[in-house]
Amino acid sequence: MPLVSTGDLVAHAAAERAAVAAFNIITLEHAEAVVAGAEATGSPVVLQISENAVKYRHGRVLPLARAAAAAAEAAAVPVGLHLDHVKSRDLLHRAADAGFGSVMYDAAHLPYEENLAATRAAAAWAHANGLWIEAELGEVGGKDGAPALDAHAPGARTDPDEARRFVEASGVDALAVAVGSTHAMTTRTASLDHDLLARLAAGLDVPLVLHGSSGLPDEELAAAVAGGITKVNIGTALNLAMTDAIRAYLTAHPSAVDSRKYLSEGRAAMVRTAAELITALRAGVSAEAVRL
Ligand code: G3H
Ligand code: ZN
Repeated sequence: MPLVSTGDLVAHAAAERAAVAAFNIITLEHAEAVVAGAEATGSPVVLQISENAVKYRHGRVLPLARAAAAAAEAAAVPVGLHLDHVKSRDLLHRAADAGFGSVMYDAAHLPYEENLAATRAAAAWAHANGLWIEAELGEVGGKDGAPALDAHAPGARTDPDEARRFVEASGVDALAVAVGSTHAMTTRTASLDHDLLARLAAGLDVPLVLHGSSGLPDEELAAAVAGGITKVNIGTALNLAMTDAIRAYLTAHPSAVDSRKYLSEGRAAMVRTAAELITALRAGVSAEAVRL
């Protein structure tokens, strides 16, 4: 199946009041596992590579992007390729040539006017180069090891009126909203501000994106989808699954040497996690249908 555009996957999900899962990948095993998990559920999926994952590869974007694109092309389900949490303009400008169909430009750490100016320029570039673009307003905490933001800290939640103005003035195709999730959580104990999510969904014409989704239990993921989230970003959950499985294998086999032995355990654990989380998102579609 050819690589498809994230924008098309999100538009399709929005039309069905569903959500597409977007998983952050770091290694080829992540990409293979996400594709296999999506195939197991018969769902489309997005493979995301973050700026931090590019930094891990010493700034080289092509090795993992090309591997992910090849995994996508071999998939039995539609797969999008997305460049995530980009702050560097240089990296943004390499996105199209590297095979990405979409990008998330992250200037959420900047004051409103600066975020808007930088995002507007990024959106103009993205559209001129055929890319779908997501940006963030309000700030989802926990990025780069930073602590979770206090719910009442300025910018820790997305203001609906400001978000409407931001989307209109920047021209972005989707908006990542801060509604209570936090990046890099290793427990699934977060809960969302559903009232705020409802106001954002009612007031905005673009798809809403949830970041930091690893910290949400299944019911909250389903409720997020029922409440209008159409792209759900998940990263840490894969790393937890992979690392736990590898640790267990190496503990049980202390003299293991062949890296395929433990990497295959890690990859299989990520397949299960990806499939389980995609299934949890689908429950949100049924909940909405029942409510209607
Ligand atoms: O953009 C990536 C996601 O927000 C991942 O967050 O690692 O907390 O699941 P997570
Ligand atoms: Zn994120």
